Amino acid sequence: MYFIGIDLGTSAVKLLLMNENGGIENIVTREYPLIFPKSGWTEQDPENWITGTMDGLKELTAGIDKSQVAGIGAGGQMHGLVVLDGDDSVIRPVILWNDGRTQEETDYLNNVIGKDKLSEYTANIAFAGFTAPKILWIRNHEPENFARIEKIMLPKDYLNYRLTGTFCTEYSDASGLLLLDVKNRKWSQEMLDICGITEAQLPKLYESFEVVGTLKPEVAAELGFPETVKVVAGAGDNAAAAVGTGTVGDARCNISLGTSGTMFISSTKFGVDKNNALHSFAHADGAYHLMGVTLSAASCNKWWCDEILNTKDYSKEQENITKLGENQVFFLPYLLGERSPHNNTNVRGMFIGMSMDTTRWEMTQAVLEGVTFGLRDSLEIARSLGLDIRRTKMSGGGAKSPLWRKMVANIMNMDVDIVESEQGPGLGGAMLAMVGCGLFPSVEEAANKLVKVVETVSPDPELVAKYEERYQFFKRLYPAILPLYPA
Ligand code: XUL
Repeated sequence: MYFIGIDLGTSAVKLLLMNENGGIENIVTREYPLIFPKSGWTEQDPENWITGTMDGLKELTAGIDKSQVAGIGAGGQMHGLVVLDGDDSVIRPVILWNDGRTQEETDYLNNVIGKDKLSEYTANIAFAGFTAPKILWIRNHEPENFARIEKIMLPKDYLNYRLTGTFCTEYSDASGLLLLDVKNRKWSQEMLDICGITEAQLPKLYESFEVVGTLKPEVAAELGFPETVKVVAGAGDNAAAAVGTGTVGDARCNISLGTSGTMFISSTKFGVDKNNALHSFAHADGAYHLMGVTLSAASCNKWWCDEILNTKDYSKEQENITKLGENQVFFLPYLLGERSPHNNTNVRGMFIGMSMDTTRWEMTQAVLEGVTFGLRDSLEIARSLGLDIRRTKMSGGGAKSPLWRKMVANIMNMDVDIVESEQGPGLGGAMLAMVGCGLFPSVEEAANKLVKVVETVSPDPELVAKYEERYQFFKRLYPAILPLYPA
């Protein structure tokens, strides 16, 4: 039997083929463009997700016995607003999770409706990237589009809809809509009223590992798969990545360095940070999690290498970085504004501290360190809540870099467990499909059986002390530049 995991990301869709023993047999990637209509705005054409996925699935399964494909599960970029009209046509390009256009709507929700009320209704406050502010933005700026909305979906839910015809979502991704009463796992009527929408416009809610349907006959025929292939509800990419690294159950941590950077802490109990600086979301294992999000993570390194240094050889660029903990150059990773903990769409990236002898390697180092310091800000909040997190897994493109792993271990003062395969969301998606198809009784059991730690990077006390000093300096930078970029 085969299971397929789909990671519907921001720059590409990554597909993974897994056998019933958890062995990864093939991985295929299809890239698609990101549209920047204005500074700080990000959009995508969802048809590219569908073509990329269908095309990629064909390559992924070429040469295997397709009658053995049993289940599919997707982890998807979160918060993106997909809106369909009565004919199921996409009304406008999708507004993505890292789009900052909704500052006014976010301010309205946080200041006029009020953070206390939002937190009471949803366990979260509004961040510009969340979906409810985007719904309000369409209502305010594109009333003719707003009037046409029949269905509201998240990215991987749209993919599942196209694969199965089932209008569905699940609790982990739905948490980021800011329409879900996370604690009670149901839509918040108050939030629907605030956004001027009804429950009929929203998908049916499932647990991530529940089967939502089978492939539509025409989809099965195009792929050469049996029509009995089961599709599970899947998860937001961070929850899926957490499943893929075994970050399930109580107080486990995963740090993801992808386009965004996240610090994800699983929890068996529902909990809210009283300042709502960390997101309080449902997890794909049926429980909950807290999460801090840095909007630009590995994407800062990509921008720095691709656009500025003009190189694609990221590892070569890191070879000359030797003096960890001593860099006088700092980088603020706010290329698209920042989510956690600052909630500021206006702030922008910055290098600071250069002198005449500063080298390009120190600047590259500053980029990697700046992203890690940004995530440390979220860890500080978790620690202030009494969560004593002393080890973490890592996933995402950045987790491939031994240097970045070492920085994470020493800047966070945590053991970093490297898993055999850091294919986070895709792997998690395939594991959810295995649970949905009955191979494992729970997500936790699937993770215990399938996820293997192959190496641990431990912090070095001397380096931890040096980085502590650097972090204390970094912490002073955001308040210093805030007057230039008020939130
Ligand atoms: C999470 C978030 C990002 C996206 C990236 O809240 O906005 O991590 O999910 O795809």
